[in-house]
Amino acid sequence: MFKINDNFLALNQNYLFSQVARKINAYMNSNPGVRIIRMGIGDVSRPLAPAVISALHEAVEEQTSCDTFCGYGPEQGHRFLTEAIAAHDYQARGIQISADEIFISDGAKSDTGNIGDILSLTNKVALTNPVYPVYLDTNIMSGRASIDNIELLPCTADNNFVPSLPTGNPDMIYLCYPNNPTGTTLNRDQLKEWVDYAKAHGALILFDSAYEAFITEDDVPHSIYEIEGATEVAIEFRSFSKTAGFTGLRCAYTVVPMALKGENAIGESVSLNALWQRRQSTKFNGASYLSQRAAEAVYSPEGKKQIRSTIDYYLRNATVLREGLKKAGLNVYGGVNAPYIWVKTPDGMDSWSFFDILLEQCNIACTPGVGFGSAGEGYVRLTAFGSYEDCLQAVERLSLLKM
Ligand code: MLT
Repeated sequence: MFKINDNFLALNQNYLFSQVARKINAYMNSNPGVRIIRMGIGDVSRPLAPAVISALHEAVEEQTSCDTFCGYGPEQGHRFLTEAIAAHDYQARGIQISADEIFISDGAKSDTGNIGDILSLTNKVALTNPVYPVYLDTNIMSGRASIDNIELLPCTADNNFVPSLPTGNPDMIYLCYPNNPTGTTLNRDQLKEWVDYAKAHGALILFDSAYEAFITEDDVPHSIYEIEGATEVAIEFRSFSKTAGFTGLRCAYTVVPMALKGENAIGESVSLNALWQRRQSTKFNGASYLSQRAAEAVYSPEGKKQIRSTIDYYLRNATVLREGLKKAGLNVYGGVNAPYIWVKTPDGMDSWSFFDILLEQCNIACTPGVGFGSAGEGYVRLTAFGSYEDCLQAVERLSLLKM
């Protein structure tokens, strides 16, 4: 009989957001007619920017003629997009990243999950705790790690959500800032400590900055490459999902700098950029031409303005939620440089119990913090990605909360 990949059996039985969705559906089935305000999974609700829609229409039109039809594109991504990203997201901030160091994909979830393909299974891994579940699950799936041999770096109100440097000499360190799920950030000096640590210890930082567009404070770095020397120790993941509402359209990118080198089994230095290029050309045929043209429009002058106004809309939601939660007597974190608000449960209640209370008393769906790791126990996460009206309504419902 053929064998399965046993590593899958070591995973939590359910992916967090599927488990939350099932709970909400069960509640709705037994309470028909109740309107749930969904603040669980971080999915956007505003429509795509008009500049993006025009680019999509144009790209569709191109497919109607042999002269402009586009089949397979370069696996690394179309040059028009990698060049726009290099110019607007990096060079405009004084960061020397070139188009050749950028790889377009269908999502940061895929890339943060797939990047392990080019890294040894013997590498030791460190993760913040709580953490976006994909980093943990994909390391378990590949057999690189089990929950018992990953170094977990707690981030709670006690350390102001700033993880301590690892002690177990990890080779791969996942950092996500602005952070999912806590909505908190590292400032430049704090991030520099990580880059310096990685340089000193020969570690690789896998830096997920999917929420970069939500940064409002000056001292919060938009890219890890703002820190000197980071191109030698870090891969950066970015996405158009939260920045420009592409959760359905799908487009993201990963930066693998030329300066980044790992070691092979006999101690020779190998370019990670070349390995990722090789991996992508074998396993991936590129993000669709349509979504890449749409992403390019994000960088047009009108696209930039339209996208900024949507992000400001979500940030206003975050402020409304933060204030409402505080008024309801709860301790809240995040929501200033991120679309996520991390809420301490009252009276030491566990995350799932407070999830149930919010669902039953307020008809608000959140994500239980413990689903992101043991240090998330005693917290829940709310997202600001809904409508402004729903946020106002949620605050009204929260004011009636009986704890
Ligand atoms: C979240 O809710 O954490 C995100 O939407 C999940 C994702 O981006 O895959």
